[in-house]
Amino acid sequence: MCRIHVAERQGVNHIRETVIEGLASSSRYRHLTTGLLARTADWAVARHAKPGPALKAAKRKLHQVFGAYAVKLDSLEQHLDALEAGGETHAMCRRILKLHHSTAERLSFMELFHATIWNHCGTPGHILDLAAGLNAFSLPFSGLDPAVSYTAIEIDRRMVEAVRRFLAVTQRPGGCLWHDVLDEIPPSNADVALVLKTLPCLERQKPGAAVDLMHRLEDIPDIVVSYPVRSLGGARKNMPLNYRAQAQALAAACGRNIAFLDLSQEIVAVLSHR
Ligand SMILES: C[S@@+](CC[C@H](N)C(=O)[O-])C[C@H]1O[C@@H](n2cnc3c(N)ncnc32)[C@H](O)[C@@H]1O
Repeated sequence: MCRIHVAERQGVNHIRETVIEGLASSSRYRHLTTGLLARTADWAVARHAKPGPALKAAKRKLHQVFGAYAVKLDSLEQHLDALEAGGETHAMCRRILKLHHSTAERLSFMELFHATIWNHCGTPGHILDLAAGLNAFSLPFSGLDPAVSYTAIEIDRRMVEAVRRFLAVTQRPGGCLWHDVLDEIPPSNADVALVLKTLPCLERQKPGAAVDLMHRLEDIPDIVVSYPVRSLGGARKNMPLNYRAQAQALAAACGRNIAFLDLSQEIVAVLSHR
């Protein structure tokens, strides 16, 4: 390689390292996996030749993907301490579910949400919950036996640690992996995968991510996907129509049948091999 190219490469590597360090020391993004920070830095250095603008662009990108959900997680540990000290499980879980936007907006119909899914899919033996957020804390409202195994995957370490503590204190089998679902999915014997309110977020990280993910979940008989009926700001913007069409296209692309479940508060579809 000629000297000019070597110098250019070193310059790009330096900007990339600066961006990764800037993200890893930011209070908002330091909890995300190093792989995601590196991926975002690569995206930013491909667009900006100087470290300052590249770091700014990388933070903007992460804000689009995560900022909106990064809700009041500061009190998470405190709630878990209370749960471990013997706090009433249902009351503590409700408080924790309120800390994440996705589960907070499901609080008023959480029991119905679970019942509708399990009526359709049958009682699972093992659930794999991808990009799970704090959904583990809805398990006490699921009507499922505590012996049902639950494995979650999430990219934000604060939530991963909270879910691990919750599973331990409630003695539920399973675990929670600090992992990027755009990477390989660890082998699983789950009979149901949950991909709740997450596909648009994954598509923003990597176009085509939804279909790729479905292919990587090929061995799981039922995949429950869901979408919100309105944006975080409250607007409807034809969302139900668009998301139903997206779910249908996704099922066709991965060769699964699709059934929409009868819920008005969230668009829920089961993609199955049946
Ligand atoms: C809209 S929330 C949905 C949370 C949960 N599925 C629910 O419906 O309650 C999206 C979640 O996905 C996580 N996430 C986003 N991208 C991810 C990725 N590439 N790998 C793993 N988790 C991811 C975020 O941290 C966030 O908790």
